[in-house]
Amino acid sequence: MFNSSEAELLHTFKGIPFTTRSSPELLKSLDTFDAREDDVLLVSYPKSGTHWLAGIITKLYKTQVTITSPIEFGDISKLEELNRLSSKRIIPTHLDYNMLPPNFKNKKCKMIYISRNPKDTAVSMFHYYRDNPNLPTVDTWTAFFDLFLKGNVVCGSWFDHFLSWEEHEDEKNILFLFYEDMKKDLPKVVKEITLFLSLNISDNDIQDICKKSSFSEMKNDTEKENCDTSHTVCALTSNKKLIFRKGAVGDWKNYFTPKQNIRFQEIFNEKMKLSKM
Ligand code: A3P
Repeated sequence: MFNSSEAELLHTFKGIPFTTRSSPELLKSLDTFDAREDDVLLVSYPKSGTHWLAGIITKLYKTQVTITSPIEFGDISKLEELNRLSSKRIIPTHLDYNMLPPNFKNKKCKMIYISRNPKDTAVSMFHYYRDNPNLPTVDTWTAFFDLFLKGNVVCGSWFDHFLSWEEHEDEKNILFLFYEDMKKDLPKVVKEITLFLSLNISDNDIQDICKKSSFSEMKNDTEKENCDTSHTVCALTSNKKLIFRKGAVGDWKNYFTPKQNIRFQEIFNEKMKLSKM
């Protein structure tokens, strides 16, 4: 478990652990947020490829767009700050569907949910916890594995998060994407995104954007630039090296013991029994 000073890095709101970077006042006031019809939400459980998706989406727009930090990050002044932005807003969030400001739902704002194999997500999150001073320390993979399965990590249970969004998968304003599909055929997924966002981009431009969005290109780019935590999805760290770690599918095989794999699978089968996944 965490020691007391580390426990201060987290607090719980509506049963979900948040870092203290998300103030309780902000979380309470989210319901009053005034969405705009042209807002685009990038939704994910942490470590599912949010930065990758955000990097691609900003390259797709020829007009000025602003990618904000996640809506749930900051203090009470956050909503006012978002209100002041005059350009189109691309807003990342790790919120569960049930916690999303209702205005986004009422105004049928476009939302893109990116998901990733939860085993790889867990391994990625383990490294993020281990290397990020803004998160509690976890000493071993075994300890983190237990926390992850119990949903005792930032943003709560992967299963609850996924299921809360999957229930709305068929709504026209929500696009579901998978990290693994992006790894397999990025141009196909990017085409899907352009159709969803009604953006007219040539196949040549899509190819070009995909090249610029490869893991190595993005990692190199971010090593050159400074990260402004108020305007990027990396709101929990200014060190982007923590984000671009390995970018692989199947890294879980290097961490899960056979016993852990069986336990994970049992819990997955139980929790996801009504899921289409
Ligand atoms: P790993 O830790 O497995 O490497 P998020 O942006 O939601 O925090 O997710 C971070 C994960 O996405 C990291 O996974 C990171 O390496 C991976 N990622 C970021 N950019 C990527 C890219 N261009 N291609 C593939 N994976 C990428």
